[in-house]
Amino acid sequence: MTPGGSDAPHPGASELLNQENLMNRTLAIVKPDAVASGKAGKVLAHLEEAGFRAVALKMIRLTEAQARSFYEVHEERPFYADLVRFMTSGPCIPMVLEADGAVPALRGAIGATDPAEAEPGTVRALYAESKERNAIHASDSDENAEREIGFFFSHQAILEVDS
Ligand code: CMP
Repeated sequence: MTPGGSDAPHPGASELLNQENLMNRTLAIVKPDAVASGKAGKVLAHLEEAGFRAVALKMIRLTEAQARSFYEVHEERPFYADLVRFMTSGPCIPMVLEADGAVPALRGAIGATDPAEAEPGTVRALYAESKERNAIHASDSDENAEREIGFFFSHQAILEVDS
């Protein structure tokens, strides 16, 4: 079951994205390390100052099944079990962010997966601890943004703040 409460990703979110907003929305997750260390507000402020607008946001603690499903693309990778353990270790904050060219813009703003390789001034350079405990997730393509937004949010949840 997805965190939004249905067995399948929210179909409404896909419709919304397909209509007009696909290129302008992406999913970010402030990860458990940043939430636990009290950096979530700083991460969001950084992104707002960089020009992103949050159009949906919530705090949840992922179940193991949810984390496994969200990261299923990494199922065969050696770090998968640790990633699932980390992502279920405490609350995280998924959010839908809006900006022109949201997916590449957010990838640029957060920096490389490994904070040691992240550009100075990016979210991970500022707030990440390690490659695993790296403060934030961002969708890596428009297609994945659509799937990942639908994983956490309904069409209605986005519309309520967008109208
Ligand atoms: P994220 O952007 O959430 O997408 C997949 C996550 O897997 C990534 O951030 C990292 O947190 C984690 N990850 C990727 N590569 C490694 C690695 N080599 N070792 C540990 N974790 C990794």
